[in-house]
Amino acid sequence: MRGIEKHFGAVKALTDVDFWVSEGEVVALVGDNGAGKSTLVKVLAGVHPPDAGTIEFDGETVQIGSPADAQDLGIATVFQDLALCDNLDVVANLWLGRELTQEGQLDEVGMERRTWALLRELAAKVPSVRIPVASLSGGQRQTVAIARSLIGEPRIVILDEPTAALGVAQTAEVLNLIERLRERGHGVVLISHNMADVMAVADRVVVLRLGRNNGEYNAADVTSETLIAAITGAIDNSVSRRASEQRRADEAQPAATEGTVIPLPARGRRPGDGGGS
Ligand SMILES: Nc1ncnc2c1ncn2[C@@H]1O[C@H](COP(=O)(O)OP(=O)(O)O)[C@@H](O)[C@H]1O
Ligand SMILES: [Mg+2]
Repeated sequence: MRGIEKHFGAVKALTDVDFWVSEGEVVALVGDNGAGKSTLVKVLAGVHPPDAGTIEFDGETVQIGSPADAQDLGIATVFQDLALCDNLDVVANLWLGRELTQEGQLDEVGMERRTWALLRELAAKVPSVRIPVASLSGGQRQTVAIARSLIGEPRIVILDEPTAALGVAQTAEVLNLIERLRERGHGVVLISHNMADVMAVADRVVVLRLGRNNGEYNAADVTSETLIAAITGAIDNSVSRRASEQRRADEAQPAATEGTVIPLPARGRRPGDGGGS
């Protein structure tokens, strides 16, 4: 995605945002509430057509005008509200709208067998696939929603805040699941504001702030302090104070430039922002 813009009336949700994900890579998309994370993935998912910018898939420019377009390209999304049917069982939820049939009848056995195969492959713990999803735990419901997204063998899987409502053990289960997705070769976009989760599974971290790119990091060599500084704009915290002290020292002594912990905003075109840092 390049130069993506999106506004809702007077609200500029996204301004000139760049974003990409590769096969077998987990990219965390982080940012404060209202930073534009959900809007960006909804552009990718075909929910919101962008006002400007281009999207390339496998090197070709594509138009993603509807969720069906995204699905055809192999982009699957697990939205924050999961959108499961509580009264239906796990199998019915997985195959809803794509039911397997045999001689005009629902192929319940085939669907159940493939549901178990998929859950096993994901090392997912679901007690039964024939109980209504209403009776599952939060982590299990998330698992069902993720498994459902895999039915069409997508290339990219987008997860919007998959661990936000989960406890510690359930979170660990979902993080395991994300690693399985990477192993299967999917490109994974993980929206999260939990830095521990991000550090645990992401390969790369992309920060949005106020609808713009505000830094991109290798998860292996970034600290959560740095990420939080990028997320908040670091106007007033110890990290930014240290950085500005360092900068003052650098200005006094131009040769010494190493050791600054705050990276510059992604592409250095954010006039007026980060005034205190
Ligand atoms: N459908 C919509 N209509 C109007 N404003 C919206 C809509 N969706 C998002 N916004 C606004 O766009 C901004 C970015 O929102 P969002 O992408 O949901 O942020 P995040 O997911 O990072 O919390 C917010 O100011 C939000 O209020
Ligand atoms: Mg959101």
